[in-house]
Amino acid sequence: MKNILITGGTGFIGSHTCISLLEDGYDITIIDSLINSSKKVLEGLRDILELTNNFDENKIHFYEGDIRNTSFLQDVFLDSKKKKKTIDCVIHFAGLKAVRESKSNPLLYWDVNVKGSINLLNIMQENDCRTILFSSSATVYGDIENLPFKESSLINPSNTYGYTKAAVENILKNIFDADSSKWRVGSLRYFNPIGSHPSGLIGENSRGKPENIFPYICQVASGIKDKLYIFGNDWPTFDGTCYRDYIHVVDLAEVHKITLKYLLERDSANLTLNVGKGKPFSVLELIKTFERVNNIKINYEFSSRRDGDIAISFADTSKIYNLLKWKPLKSLEDMCKDGWNWQKTCV
Ligand code: NAD
Ligand code: UFG
Repeated sequence: MKNILITGGTGFIGSHTCISLLEDGYDITIIDSLINSSKKVLEGLRDILELTNNFDENKIHFYEGDIRNTSFLQDVFLDSKKKKKTIDCVIHFAGLKAVRESKSNPLLYWDVNVKGSINLLNIMQENDCRTILFSSSATVYGDIENLPFKESSLINPSNTYGYTKAAVENILKNIFDADSSKWRVGSLRYFNPIGSHPSGLIGENSRGKPENIFPYICQVASGIKDKLYIFGNDWPTFDGTCYRDYIHVVDLAEVHKITLKYLLERDSANLTLNVGKGKPFSVLELIKTFERVNNIKINYEFSSRRDGDIAISFADTSKIYNLLKWKPLKSLEDMCKDGWNWQKTCV
């Protein structure tokens, strides 16, 4: 079975993808600096697999380190070879993702997200490993008047984080164009991943001050925060709040496995796909759904619009459906129920 290197594999989306791959019998090698996750996630992976008697410790390899450290990356490739677990392909999640921080510390974001990716691609090439699936984001889109966003829509990010994602997409395109017979590259543009594994054993890191809506709702639900501030009720939408395309992280994990399989079945490939449900919900609809399925009241107040927000964002999902015959299965209710099931274990 193939051995897949997962950078950022103890993070939110990475850990769920590890489960999806391990359940199908793949070997996985995780690299993570633990800057935004912890080794406890490895216990979560084990516990989930033990629920179905599927745990095999020889299938999970973990290396703590930074993707900006070239000799560390080279050691991981060499060590894997020595163990007769040569790395066949890479899913690249490792990176920083806080939009506000990216604006105040742009060099850090270019260093981690772009230089880190270049290091990784260099080491992959040196080791004759040329299949990579990259975590991109809907934040790369710029033409907010023409919705839904298609993969061919204008790329024009509004923040440093988005620029770094677009830059890595361009680098992947460039290396593919330079040697298209050898590379298989894919960029998945995620919309708004929320929720967690239904077991409640892994989920999103809820430490610190969340910027995104879902962990914020959970912190209010658990009493860590007094109230949620809804950024604007004067948007040109049905209820005045912003619409987003939420997708369950378990669906998102599954699509990595399916896309990777697609890449591995081809001699050469260069793919960019939106990953969302294609159906947006408003902030108020998200809150009401959370309240209903979890039977908890969320204290909220309207405040002014957040700088850089757009009224509506959602995916045109026809490309991924036509190519992979894939559709997300889980509902907004599932996202709210499963996400809270994890978050309440974190307090
Ligand atoms: P996360 O922070 O939970 O996971 C990222 C992981 O990468 C963390 O475990 C972190 O410790 C690790 N990491 C960070 N810098 C590193 C470095 N220099 N070297 C090694 N490891 C490092 O984030 P996530 O939500 O799981 O996101 C995964 C990827 O998906 C990121 O690239 C993110 O930009 C992208 N993405 C996320 C979202 C979202 O809303 N969560 C949306 C679109 C795209
Ligand atoms: N919101 C609030 N209150 C909060 C937090 C958010 O009202 O405390 C609102 C926002 O104004 C927005 C909606 O909830 O209308 C969703 O906000 P998020 O920050 O959760 O998500 P965004 O769509 O703004 O951005 C997120 C990530 C980006 C990523 C994008 C698309 O932060 O990095 O999804 O994937 F690019």
